[in-house]
Amino acid sequence: MPLFEENVSLRPYNTFGLDVQARYFARFASVESLRELLAQPEVQAGPLLILGGGSNLLLTQNFGGVVLKNELMGLEISGEDADTHTALLRAGAGESWHGLVAYALDEDLSGVENLSLIPGTVGAAPLQNIGAYGAELQDTFERLEALEISTGELRVFGKEACGFGYRESVFKGALKNQFVVTAVVLRLHRAAAARPTNSSYGAIRETLAELGIESEPTARHVSEAVVHIRRSKLPDPAEVGNAGSFFKNPEVSQAKFDELKGRYPGLPGYPVPGGVKVPAGWLIEQAGFKGLRRGAGAGTHGVHERQALVLVNHGGATGQELRALAEEIIRAVGTQFGIELHPEVNIL
Ligand code: FAD
Ligand code: EPU
Repeated sequence: MPLFEENVSLRPYNTFGLDVQARYFARFASVESLRELLAQPEVQAGPLLILGGGSNLLLTQNFGGVVLKNELMGLEISGEDADTHTALLRAGAGESWHGLVAYALDEDLSGVENLSLIPGTVGAAPLQNIGAYGAELQDTFERLEALEISTGELRVFGKEACGFGYRESVFKGALKNQFVVTAVVLRLHRAAAARPTNSSYGAIRETLAELGIESEPTARHVSEAVVHIRRSKLPDPAEVGNAGSFFKNPEVSQAKFDELKGRYPGLPGYPVPGGVKVPAGWLIEQAGFKGLRRGAGAGTHGVHERQALVLVNHGGATGQELRALAEEIIRAVGTQFGIELHPEVNIL
């Protein structure tokens, strides 16, 4: 049997629902089969795309090379530390991220509940150090295992070696396209330990109150609140194509923020080391794009009506149209505010 399927539509494999084709396509469910696939001439000819859940991708054209879909499974408690009341959770990189969160909650482990319902795979989570509602992957990250594409060797990366930042890691920077993440190990807290769950984020506090949970929320309570908030704000890719936040929230200097605040008193901002983080959704809304629809009929694509940071495919849009809209937004925000937006989504 041939190792690769040919001319495969990637539509079921990206949350924008874009219909582009992969020249070659295969799945891997073990490190051995990944190694075997990487040794094939089709891969050597390049380009190569390692595909997780396709929830952070904008595919603008057919992919002329090889797409390898990660199906490395397995979830286990791989260690316990009674002194620190922590446990190690090891997950195959092809597991769904939210599945990992649910498993942790079932095992009475806390630390990832704020990251509930983020789509995609465990293996992609370190790529951009996924984050939401006051937490980031790096908060519980212990190490990952990754296969070097050029040598087929497995390497272990600790937290320092991953170079995590806001929606950043070494795998998006200096080591881009050089490794396939095969497993991730997190250090989570045994809920029995009296550890305050991270519920300080405003929206979580308010939602917990709405749900009638006023004091000592458990990890499961926080997870429920986060799920509730996300469902009310973010479009479900099963209903309308999207890839979450299309842009990163930009950071500006305090001086730049003060200048803008003078002109736009409603401008929100959150202090970060070296400056102020400004919500891109606010800038895009002010620039007049929120709820915009473009394309034939009632519109094939546009900007979500409840969250201006989310570009959407209402059906029938192309990746090129979405990229053109993203470029238009970057220009408009640049002209109006003097701030350059950078995509969070990987554009291919
Ligand atoms: P893919 O889209 O398949 O891949 C993304 C990139 O990672 C690609 O470049 C791919 O080649 C690379 N990659 C994937 N797997 C591997 C691997 N095993 N080894 C090496 N490279 C790999 N993100 C957040 O941080 N916070 C949020 O709150 C959030 N909310 C979202 C909400 C919605 C509705 C959607 C659609 C997306 C959201 N995202 C969010 C973005 C997205 O879910 C994350 O970036 C997620 O980690 C992507 O996982 P994936 O498996 O779908 O990656
Ligand atoms: N806002 C507007 N108009 C909008 C959208 C947002 O004015 O249309 C302003 C509001 O002031 C709001 C603020 O932006 O208070 C922040 O909005 P929200 O809480 O929805 O968060 P976000 O900054 O838009 C970020 C992450 C999300 C993450 C949430 C929750 C980035 C790029 N995005 O969104 O991550 O889920 O916070 O923590 O950092 C993703 O990365 O794909 C993603 C969805």
